[in-house]
Amino acid sequence: MITVANRLQTVEEYYFSKKLREVNALKASGKPIINLGIGSPDLMPPQRVVDAITESFKYPNVHQYQSYQGLPELREAMGAFYKAQFGVNVDPASEILPLMGSKEGILHISMAFLNAGDEVLIPNPGYPTYASVTKLVEAKAVTYNLDETNGWLPDLDALEQTDLSKVKVMWVNYPHMPTGANATEALYQDLVAFAKRNDILIVNDNPYSFVLNNNPRSILSVPGAKDVCVELNSLSKTFNMAGWRVGMVLGNAEHLGAILKVKSNMDSGMFYGIQKGAIEALKSTDEWFKNLNVAYEKRRKLVWELADLLGCTYDESTTGLFVWSKLPAGVDAESFIDKILYDNSIFITPGIIFGSQGKGYIRFSLCASEEQLQEAITRIRTQN
Ligand SMILES: Cc1ncc(COP(=O)(O)O)c(C=O)c1O
Repeated sequence: MITVANRLQTVEEYYFSKKLREVNALKASGKPIINLGIGSPDLMPPQRVVDAITESFKYPNVHQYQSYQGLPELREAMGAFYKAQFGVNVDPASEILPLMGSKEGILHISMAFLNAGDEVLIPNPGYPTYASVTKLVEAKAVTYNLDETNGWLPDLDALEQTDLSKVKVMWVNYPHMPTGANATEALYQDLVAFAKRNDILIVNDNPYSFVLNNNPRSILSVPGAKDVCVELNSLSKTFNMAGWRVGMVLGNAEHLGAILKVKSNMDSGMFYGIQKGAIEALKSTDEWFKNLNVAYEKRRKLVWELADLLGCTYDESTTGLFVWSKLPAGVDAESFIDKILYDNSIFITPGIIFGSQGKGYIRFSLCASEEQLQEAITRIRTQN
């Protein structure tokens, strides 16, 4: 028996990787499952994107290895997108690195900047990958609590009362998943100043800026931010391209050089046709974002109706691809969602998987059609 590496003792298989096996088994047994668990956009990407990848098969170089840094025109399209959407100037030659989804960037950044024993500030609740990757690179996850009473924003003054001498990286994610809270300009300014005072690299994970959000922001718009921040972004939710695996990291040339050193040893470039499709997506006009949000707004109204029927409360001012809902007092989320899964064939995510601060909450995804959401409402209503 070959024993696995010690680092694997520190992490568990990803929640969805496990739970979706259970959900899929129910589906295979004939249950009419409505999946409101995972945030995998079911809407189509722009048609031009699909045309571009189809067209790409005509080119002789399409099956060859591609550049580690992506096509220059992809980096230029990413730079133009950042300028147009966030007013941020980045040099496509040295300050943008395309990624195969932003998730892989979490590992690359961690490998580039963390030594064993370094401390990493991680939001609670937050995307579970920040903590698991931190543990995989043998660094130490130190959570900072977010809660409803302060709008799910970090309390930097309280953090500064703690010993930050070993902290090397801080993960920040606004619009925040799972709560949908949004950062203010002032918070980003405070974070940059905090990072400079404490010699910490801030990584802002920003994949939800364009979903039900009237104020898309980048931390890189704060003057001097590039000295201490890098930002991850992604085409997954913005252009309904989660399965394409296209993301990006932006920051100063020195930080990006370190990340490239890791990445270029791990993969050998992104498929040509995917890059051509991504370029087309990034050229989308405001019409795209408007239509996307009209669709999600209709879905969100239905999810609110479903949450009402389940006796849950929620904040209507939040953004992003999910509705974060508070359960009635004393209700255990995991048994609550299992009951709905087994009695009504509806899968919802328990908030606790995002950290202890998610206790007492559940998360509904908006990645289900209006018909499916109507059906979910009918199932709960007829049962009550
Ligand atoms: C907060 C957050 N960051 C990053 C990701 C990864 O997105 P992708 O790798 O598809 O770009 C997700 C995906 O759900 C997410 O919720």
